[in-house]
Amino acid sequence: MKPSTDSPVTDRNAELFERARALIPGGVNSPVRAFRAVGGTPRFVQRAQGAYFWDANGKRHIDYIGSRGPMILGHGHPRVLEAVQAAALEGFSFGAPTEREVELAEEIVRHLPSVEMVRLVSSGTEAAMSAIRLARGATGRSVIIKFEGCYHGHADALLVKAGSGLATFGHPTSAGVPPEVVQHTMVLEYNNVAELEEAFARHGAELACVIIEPIAGNMNFVRATREFMQRCRELCTRHGALLVFDEVMTGFRVALGGAQSLYAKEIPGFAPDITVLGKVIGGGMPLAAFGGPRAIMEKLAPLGPVYRQGRCRAIPWRRPAGWRRCARSRSRASTRRWGRARARWWRA
Ligand SMILES: Cc1ncc(COP(=O)(O)O)c(C=O)c1O
Repeated sequence: MKPSTDSPVTDRNAELFERARALIPGGVNSPVRAFRAVGGTPRFVQRAQGAYFWDANGKRHIDYIGSRGPMILGHGHPRVLEAVQAAALEGFSFGAPTEREVELAEEIVRHLPSVEMVRLVSSGTEAAMSAIRLARGATGRSVIIKFEGCYHGHADALLVKAGSGLATFGHPTSAGVPPEVVQHTMVLEYNNVAELEEAFARHGAELACVIIEPIAGNMNFVRATREFMQRCRELCTRHGALLVFDEVMTGFRVALGGAQSLYAKEIPGFAPDITVLGKVIGGGMPLAAFGGPRAIMEKLAPLGPVYRQGRCRAIPWRRPAGWRRCARSRSRASTRRWGRARARWWRA
């Protein structure tokens, strides 16, 4: 179909938004899609190919959203489609384990030296929430530290803003989150070493974990300084807390080994205790993961006391896109080759 650039007589985006608003709160299934910050009518995506999507009026747009990260290769690459179709033909929900989950776990572990075992889940929110439960279960402690400006999904304990000072814990940022649920969440300033040291001095023995976006994509890609990250690692180790790296945005993107591989180059022996992954590993499919050393991961049920479960976790049709994406970025050389192939594909 030849894309039209003319203003349509009937605005199908507006029509769909009207229909959606009658049935879906705000007309959207995630608040950022509502265009409230920018004004106008959300564009309803009709289809997408390569670097473009077409809205309900048939108008072509350059897709700068990229599904908020996962569509790093663009839309509808034939090899990805082929893999997804092949997997779908084999069935896609069993409530039983599959070989593909094992292959994806192997692929993730191969690239992240800090991860010996991995659990596949459905969203970054679920992965971060489960990682915190694991950290609390593994340490037997309740308090967690997060940093202002970092986003780790919408689990209750993480919808928090800073209290009035270090002596206080956070306040809920969403209605429906009781203050008691966030009473164990401390919110500190990113890259503030003095504040971090003070928090550990006061609460070190109660701290289960520090969770951080190593490169805070949700705060315009501010990077944790080497000094700050080194102190995070040292203080966690000294006080028996776990360092949780939220690599939902950075994993397999800033480097094949994630942001942790960049810090490992700068800080000898550096590694987080738990890594949270999402977005690109599913290639647009609802897939995420968290992982770490065997001794920590074996605290999870059925081996240990930390419970998490899910009917649709790691359904097999999710694997090919994610796996292929990992596989494709296996080496810098192959990434470059893939970049050239993609450029040829877009030109074609
Ligand atoms: C760093 C980070 N962690 C967690 C999440 C939550 O992931 P999801 O939207 O898959 O629940 C996001 C989502 O944007 C994120 O950017």
